[in-house]
Amino acid sequence: MKSSDINTNEIAKAASLIRAGNTVAFPTETVYGLGADAFNALAVARIFEIKGRPSFDPLIVHLADKSQLSRVASDVPPLAQKLADTFWPGPLTLVLPKTAAVPDIVTSGLNTVGVRIPDHPLARALIDASATPIAAPSANLFGRISPTTAQHVRDQLGENVDLILDGGPCRVGVESTIVSFAQARPVVLRLGGVTVEVLEASIGRIDVFAGSSERPAAPGNLPSHYAPRTPLTLIGAETSPAGAKIGYLAFQSAPIEKFAAVEILSPRNDLKEAAANLYGAMRRLDALGLDAIWAESAPESGLGRAINDRLRRAAARCD
Ligand code: TXA
Ligand code: MG
Repeated sequence: MKSSDINTNEIAKAASLIRAGNTVAFPTETVYGLGADAFNALAVARIFEIKGRPSFDPLIVHLADKSQLSRVASDVPPLAQKLADTFWPGPLTLVLPKTAAVPDIVTSGLNTVGVRIPDHPLARALIDASATPIAAPSANLFGRISPTTAQHVRDQLGENVDLILDGGPCRVGVESTIVSFAQARPVVLRLGGVTVEVLEASIGRIDVFAGSSERPAAPGNLPSHYAPRTPLTLIGAETSPAGAKIGYLAFQSAPIEKFAAVEILSPRNDLKEAAANLYGAMRRLDALGLDAIWAESAPESGLGRAINDRLRRAAARCD
């Protein structure tokens, strides 16, 4: 959407809700976020309540522009500054030492804060008009599929959110890449919209620590996350129960006649298109009451790594 499409009355209303300590769901280029004033601990607590999110999982703080960075981050190492200059606004979150102004509930008691400037005119207009950084996780119930349209947010969070801004479908479709500067060497904690290849072209070799583990460095990297209700299997290891209704999540093409339903992520064989379609396709299959979803992996490079990461977590059901 263009800046000229912004409804200034709606933004003013959303901003006054934020300033009064309420929650507003808003679009970003990655996924929709559920936002509240990052400096208002009570408002942020409401986010955790609405999502059913465990308090050990910190939130990302969203800024309208770089001038707000010093309000939330106490130190910006040179490499972090380079990444900010190169990729903001955009799908990159930097984990930096936090200022005292950021309440503990935002960072789950960590002395670092995740921060990014989203590349979406509505998001930035909202943060700007609110005149405060906005803490926002993805606007889904904890552990479930992230929303890439306003309708997805309505479906899962509906009445509990004070206002939902509609900016159309998200362009990127998977969450931001998280790079932590908590230690001396930067490390990728979550694969996302900015690929490792592109990061490395900017700052050289970077470690990736985004695998699932019991105590993940980015708590959102829990082994089971982004999960549909229908059991999802990455194909290769599945067995076919006779008579079962199987949905097939294909990358480029699929043997349509064999399955009860098929979603194709990118007929053009394009990773950007596939990422933008991923969560919507998972939701559509999940809504069909299938016995199982079989998902094909994407090529393991570029955005394909983030797509495969989400598919593996969607497959790792813990409930
Ligand atoms: O694209 C995105 O990043 C979206 C949009 C709305 O900006 N947001 C998003 O938020 O994906 P959420 O809450 O679903 O995921 C945030 C991740 C979590 O895995 C959390 O553990 C990690 O960021 N995180 C936040 N602050 C952190 C910190 N100080 N240290 C390590 N990980 C952090
Ligand atoms: Mg999330």
